Amino acid sequence: MDNPAYVRKKGRINVVLTQKQNKFEEESLFENEESKIEHDVLARFEQELGEYVGLEEVKRLVKEIYAWLFINRCREKEGLKVTKQALHMIFKGNPGTGKTTVARLIASFFHEMGVLAKGHFLEVERADLVGEYIGHTAQKTREVLKKAHGGVLFIDEAYSLARGGEKDFGKEAIDTLVKAMEDRQHEFVLILAGYSDEMDYFLSLNPGLPSRFPIAIDFPNYSTNQLMEMVRRMLHERQYTLTEDAQKHVKDHLQKIRSEEEGTFSNGRYVRNMIEEAIRFQAVRLLRDGTFDKDSLVTIKRLDFQFHSSHVKVN
Ligand SMILES: Nc1ncnc2c1ncn2[C@@H]1O[C@H](COP(=O)(O)OP(=O)(O)OP(=O)(O)O)[C@@H](O)[C@H]1O
Ligand SMILES: [Mg+2]
Repeated sequence: MDNPAYVRKKGRINVVLTQKQNKFEEESLFENEESKIEHDVLARFEQELGEYVGLEEVKRLVKEIYAWLFINRCREKEGLKVTKQALHMIFKGNPGTGKTTVARLIASFFHEMGVLAKGHFLEVERADLVGEYIGHTAQKTREVLKKAHGGVLFIDEAYSLARGGEKDFGKEAIDTLVKAMEDRQHEFVLILAGYSDEMDYFLSLNPGLPSRFPIAIDFPNYSTNQLMEMVRRMLHERQYTLTEDAQKHVKDHLQKIRSEEEGTFSNGRYVRNMIEEAIRFQAVRLLRDGTFDKDSLVTIKRLDFQFHSSHVKVN
């Protein structure tokens, strides 16, 4: 295959980035300002996504779906056949890798593109779907589906629905969801999310499921450099800067916990919490020292990261 952008795996399309693909991805679809205006929705979402580190697969998927919908409109004008596609998705990745953030963005993107009538985002978990007696689960799940109508239904830790096996009511929830995906395929988008291994296991238990989710996206753990880039962006956004000494200190720390807690490290969420704690520590330091000049107010120092006495959870 010349440019293996897609690999079919158990009926789903997994997006695989090759170097060549990366090059394509960096190429803008906009030739000039005029086309940027014409494709304003894509330009805006690309800009919004651009504020996040990495997420290359997502960035490409948005471009791909935009192009498909745009071309469909052109085909419609020419009286050509326009087909709909199921857009249900699976997001696989560790905590804090951006799954919820991306699902929210996709909901509003689909709304602006006219794919979803309302484009609202409803996040639920097992307890919202599974009931306590026979019939209760189907009723609870149907209520959730009703609320999700016209938007994105996001089920976090979806594999927990398979907990307890055949006799568990979770199975009833899955059956009800599958039925709704068939009957009201284009009225809502279902996104199942969870840890990679557990999602694979969950899908393997439900043979009819994988092919109903044509889009699967992996959210890999961020590299130390990507985490540092997040640190910089989050601080910049809050109008703070790090001293060089602090940068090195934070980088060493991230490198260490990344390798120690590989399977459970909460990535972007950890970075956000770590930064917010440093901002509090800095405030205490400034208050204690009675220093309130502008330079001090924006500077975060090495001693503002007290990792040994931190309240921030790594997982
Ligand atoms: N690529 C990124 N760039 C910048 N910030 C990010 C990125 N990915 C995640 N974050 C930040 O990390 C935090 C957690 O992200 P999010 O809640 O989307 O993760 P998640 O994958 O849904 O986690 P969980 O599985 O625990 O629910 C958010 O504050 C988000 O802004
Ligand atoms: Mg989440």
